[in-house]
Amino acid sequence: MATKMILDCDTGVDDTMAIMYAALHPDIDLLAVGTVWGNVEVERGTRNTLRVLDIVGRGEVPVAQGAAGPLLGGPTEYAYHVHGDDGQGNAGDAEPVRAAEPTTAAQQIIDIVRQHPGEVWLVPVGPLTNIATALALDPELPKLVAGVSLMGGSASAPGNVSFVAEANIWHDAEAAQAVFAAKWPVVMAGLDVTMKVLITAEHRDQMLAGGPAGQYMGRIIEFYGEFYRDMVFGDWSCAMHDSIAVAAAAGHLDVQLAPVVNVEVDTTGGPGHGQTLVDLRGKYRGYPEQEGAHTTVLMEISDSIADTVVSLITDFQGA
Ligand code: BDR
Ligand code: CA
Repeated sequence: MATKMILDCDTGVDDTMAIMYAALHPDIDLLAVGTVWGNVEVERGTRNTLRVLDIVGRGEVPVAQGAAGPLLGGPTEYAYHVHGDDGQGNAGDAEPVRAAEPTTAAQQIIDIVRQHPGEVWLVPVGPLTNIATALALDPELPKLVAGVSLMGGSASAPGNVSFVAEANIWHDAEAAQAVFAAKWPVVMAGLDVTMKVLITAEHRDQMLAGGPAGQYMGRIIEFYGEFYRDMVFGDWSCAMHDSIAVAAAAGHLDVQLAPVVNVEVDTTGGPGHGQTLVDLRGKYRGYPEQEGAHTTVLMEISDSIADTVVSLITDFQGA
């Protein structure tokens, strides 16, 4: 049976790849997508999401717009320098898109999860504002989902917005803390693994030579790869990030190390703000069971998932 999923995206470049992957893979039943602020303003993220679903021939997947800023208010900061002004590497298109659903991303989660109790994976790959809002609106949600597979945080890798914080968690640390505290199974695909699964120049060229989804993805990833070339790796390649959370929920990952441990989020406003505090003290004893722990932290995975996802997107020849 295909894995039922609701994605929640701040649709930039790597989110786009995650949407295409979830929309095209036969093992995944993509029930809906929610949008959230983060890489770009939420309205732009919604437009990108609708357009990307059109490109992969999934115009029937409902898209609901969510939060325009953090749970407790405060400033929004976007990542145009990473994802382009349009969130699509300054290479998106101006094709018209359909309207989003007349509901919020948080309410959409509640409604769909309640239609399929125990079956739906929530896959947030942006700030966790919508997920925390859904939790606040429906405190029974943790008993009703299959799990939450999120892209965010870091156990021991360096941060990417500060020396210890990853962007999705840092953007809305209070929302993230609420999500990690709720008693549902969480899979954390953080920088420990997402910085090690790379989309290479060969992958880009493969996609450019493929069908309509591949050509679009190959085009928009250029700018994102240039950011990683200039700021991170020194040559053109980029972190796959968001697709790893999709792969974890779908059971597509070859996992070598993923302890189930306690995770807290630093919400102090100090230099550690937005850091995921991951209890790795059991490392020397092979990670024995920790009381109350319900977060599986991906620490070591095979990078072959990049080839799988790139081929899936490349090979799509249109609906
Ligand atoms: C995360 O931040 C965003 O820029 C990416 O889309 C990804 O979800 C990586 O830290
Ligand atoms: Ca994202």
